[in-house]
Amino acid sequence: MSIDMKTIGIVGAGQMGTGIAQLFATKGFKVLIFDIDRNICERARMNVSKALQKLLEKKRLNEQQVEMALSSISIVDNIDAMAHSDLVIEAVSESQILKKEIFQKLDKVVRSDVIIASNTSSISITSLASSTGRPDKVIGMHFMNPAPIMSGVEIIKGLLTGENTVNVISGLVARLDKTAIISNDRPGFIVNRILFPMLNEAMFALYEGVSTREEIDNGMKICCNHPIGPLALADMIGLDTVLAILDTLYSGFRDTKYRPCPLLKEYVDAGWLGKKSGRGFFEY
Ligand SMILES: NC(=O)c1ccc[n+]([C@@H]2O[C@H](COP(=O)([O-])OP(=O)(O)OC[C@H]3O[C@@H](n4cnc5c(N)ncnc54)[C@H](O)[C@@H]3O)[C@@H](O)[C@H]2O)c1
Repeated sequence: MSIDMKTIGIVGAGQMGTGIAQLFATKGFKVLIFDIDRNICERARMNVSKALQKLLEKKRLNEQQVEMALSSISIVDNIDAMAHSDLVIEAVSESQILKKEIFQKLDKVVRSDVIIASNTSSISITSLASSTGRPDKVIGMHFMNPAPIMSGVEIIKGLLTGENTVNVISGLVARLDKTAIISNDRPGFIVNRILFPMLNEAMFALYEGVSTREEIDNGMKICCNHPIGPLALADMIGLDTVLAILDTLYSGFRDTKYRPCPLLKEYVDAGWLGKKSGRGFFEY
């Protein structure tokens, strides 16, 4: 059974919420976006507007498409307004406590047939589902950054996620012209379980004085053909998010191989969060 999805609710208008809003808006959906502060949503809409303007200049979209996409994004001031959504995607900060609170609220607000998805990078979908009365309709929908550009979306099945929910979300991913990668619910799923130990190792290499930040990143770009170096990628993701993901892997597997590099902790303590704060392993 599937519902006709027209309106997508997004909770959290940071880096990922903004990209996800842009993606759905350009694919003909209506988007409702909510964050703790209306200014954050205004900034998200402004960033979408800038990104669409660039696509217009590159002739990837025409003026009418840009106008339609922008006008389809509505900012809401209360999470209760998510009641008008046919699907909600949660994209708040990477904290299990926070996400569980949001799932509890959404469960009370949205129709009983509505799927609630999380964009979490590492947190257990089964645990988020347990804060709701609809665990069969809770799923991981892990967009990559930047969401409008990256072509893969990881779909995570919690222990109780229904087969119909997986089919509906896989169909939606195809409608977005993206490819679904299906994973069971283990810390970090597929992509981040493999990617994050590499990012962490690059940080340890810097911490232990193996080489400079530039040489480490160039090593992986030039010798391994990676499009971006691991330290620059960590900056792009956000060092607070990187630390939260490594902590989830470390506590989830109880394995010291995932222990976050102390340098990363130090940077986050200093407020060096990467690109979004203007300073991380590099300056922006
Ligand atoms: N950054 C990445 O590269 C990336 C990639 C894939 C998935 N993710 C995941 O996406 C999620 C969001 O990451 P991000 O990079 O956008 O982080 P971010 O820090 O840019 O944005 C998080 C947003 O959540 C909002 N928020 C916090 N508490 C809230 C609440 N109670 N109600 C509503 N909004 C609230 C914050 O105000 C902020 O705007 C995380 O789960 C992260 O792991 C991130």
